[in-house]
Amino acid sequence: MSFDELIGEIREIAEDSLPLDTKLFEITRAIKECLRNYDWVGFYLVDDEAKNELRLGPFSGAATEHGSIPFGTGVCGMVAESKETLVIDDVASEANYLSCSIDVKSEIVLPIFADSEFKGVLDIDSHTSSRFTARDREFLEQVVGIVSGLLANYQRAKTRD
Ligand code: SME
Repeated sequence: MSFDELIGEIREIAEDSLPLDTKLFEITRAIKECLRNYDWVGFYLVDDEAKNELRLGPFSGAATEHGSIPFGTGVCGMVAESKETLVIDDVASEANYLSCSIDVKSEIVLPIFADSEFKGVLDIDSHTSSRFTARDREFLEQVVGIVSGLLANYQRAKTRD
């Protein structure tokens, strides 16, 4: 399946009438199933109570011991502080890295915003070194754009309640 076809599938999931968490899970499932060597795909979302912490959201892949991550800790926590995408070609060379599994070799983490408010990150791990190319990053930025729209709609609906 091409990136364009997969984006089409993700748009369909986003437009389905499913609860938010189910949509986010289905998005991680579609990405992990369709793209080779995408071994863990998941969301860490800003914890509304403990503001400077990310909490594990829907994911596809092996269970992780990192249920919550303070801003500044690990690759996800660094992205939560800088609000910039990070691509780690070799996780062994990254001192501020939280290991999920010894098999992980490379990682990409992208920030997610809704109505310009930072909401969390999309985190992808691969058992292959240097797995994430500029084309992967471009595709994942499109995914994050769709998720931003979902979170913004959800937020607006919540404020209307
Ligand atoms: N490697 C991440 C932690 C999350 S697990 O990979 C699922 C990090 O350094 O933030």
